[in-house]
Amino acid sequence: MAGLFIALEGPEGAGKSTQALRLAARLRTLGRDVLVSREPGGTALGQELRRLVLDRESHAILAETEALLYAADRAEHVGRVLRPARDCGAIVVCDRFVDSSLAYQGAGRGLDVIQLRALQNFATGGMEPDLRLLLDLPVGVGLARRFGSGGEVNRLDAEGIAFHERVRAAYLAAAAASPIAWAVVDAAESVDEVARRVEEMVVERLGDRLGPATPSVAGSATVDRAR
Ligand code: TYD
Repeated sequence: MAGLFIALEGPEGAGKSTQALRLAARLRTLGRDVLVSREPGGTALGQELRRLVLDRESHAILAETEALLYAADRAEHVGRVLRPARDCGAIVVCDRFVDSSLAYQGAGRGLDVIQLRALQNFATGGMEPDLRLLLDLPVGVGLARRFGSGGEVNRLDAEGIAFHERVRAAYLAAAAASPIAWAVVDAAESVDEVARRVEEMVVERLGDRLGPATPSVAGSATVDRAR
């Protein structure tokens, strides 16, 4: 079967990494090869770039530099990991991709979106997700999760509420403008409920491109029971 590329997007605290793993586990039950990765940091060089761009102790970084660091991470990730895996027939599930740069560096930092898009195109060589899943939740809920989890708070988490509101609004606007490219899931629900909705959306949108055993992936029985 042909490879597929699914990007998980969303504001802070949406639980994307947990959902990426849950989705991958379900897709593997179809007998598909699944690769889970994330940005920034999906390659060895990307790990270094991630440290540079997210470390709260690092010097102030200009918005333009920040955009270039994320783009460098992405170029490396696409060229060495994502595209080869997809081209070999894997389903690639990536925690953040191009739309994170458009939301955070575009809406959040106020960089020119046309220029940012050109930069993304350069970095990815035009590789695009087959589906973008927006795990949406109110900014206050996401930040409370992030700050309350005792986990690490990075340089972008520490931005003000207005920054995060712009990011969320940009995601919602992108999803509203391209309903075929995006599926929106309410990430304020429980982990299990979000996982169920994510599966449901993936099956609804990607259908038989997932594999011959597609209907069981969504656990349609589970869906029915839940209702
Ligand atoms: P991470 O700890 O992975 O956060 P999250 O769990 O929210 O994904 O950190 C990634 C941070 O980098 C997050 O704050 C969003 C930001 N980011 C950008 O600003 N632009 C980008 O292109 C990407 C990929 C991430």
